[in-house]
Amino acid sequence: MKRPIIAASVLSADFYDMKSGIARIEESTAEWIHLDVMDGRFVPSITFGAKMVADLRPRTKLVLDAHLMTVEPERQVQSFVEAGADYITFHTEACVHSHLLVQKIKAAGKKAGISIVPATPVSQITELLESVDLVLVMTVNPGAGGQSMIPSCLEKVKRLSEIRHERGLSFLISIDGGVNSSTLGRIVGAAPDVLVMGSAFFASADPGSEVEAARQAYSAL
Ligand code: DX5
Ligand code: ZN
Repeated sequence: MKRPIIAASVLSADFYDMKSGIARIEESTAEWIHLDVMDGRFVPSITFGAKMVADLRPRTKLVLDAHLMTVEPERQVQSFVEAGADYITFHTEACVHSHLLVQKIKAAGKKAGISIVPATPVSQITELLESVDLVLVMTVNPGAGGQSMIPSCLEKVKRLSEIRHERGLSFLISIDGGVNSSTLGRIVGAAPDVLVMGSAFFASADPGSEVEAARQAYSAL
């Protein structure tokens, strides 16, 4: 039976009361905290930077999964390394020298992730797949929580799974955007390893049950 990793996204938490938001994640069985870094350029919104990771790091043992939605991610990576992020994922659309940046993240002892927006095909990152630890497939256009999933993006998850199998690789495949009880049925068909969950987690009166519903959906695999 496949068990998905759940990455709860604090984008949908109350920024005034982040402590409670983190506590809700800790109280669930989610393994990762997903941190959406938006710079007002790659996407219109601005959220937070490496200080959020640095402040969380001593307070949780959960995996800190930084998702950089920034232009020039090569300018940001070092501060996220020093802040103590476990995974540092950046967008291939924002960086010419993606391969080099992946190597830098790994050389710093961190897990390196590459992300693609809905308009970007898997073919754009095939040369990176030998090097990365994670591929983050955006299933909405990045920039905000609470959007509807674009189901066709799940085809990219299937394609990545095939390539991983063919080449004997072991990177994780994560999906981000619109993961909730009504999309789980479709998601299971593509079976990504990591499910980022923002609004479905934080809008719920019982976030733990949302996580368990995702696990349950995978129980047939
Ligand atoms: C969107 C972010 C997501 C967001 C997902 O740009 O990358 O991580 O938090 O939110 P939901 O789960 O509400 O689609
Ligand atoms: Zn994200």
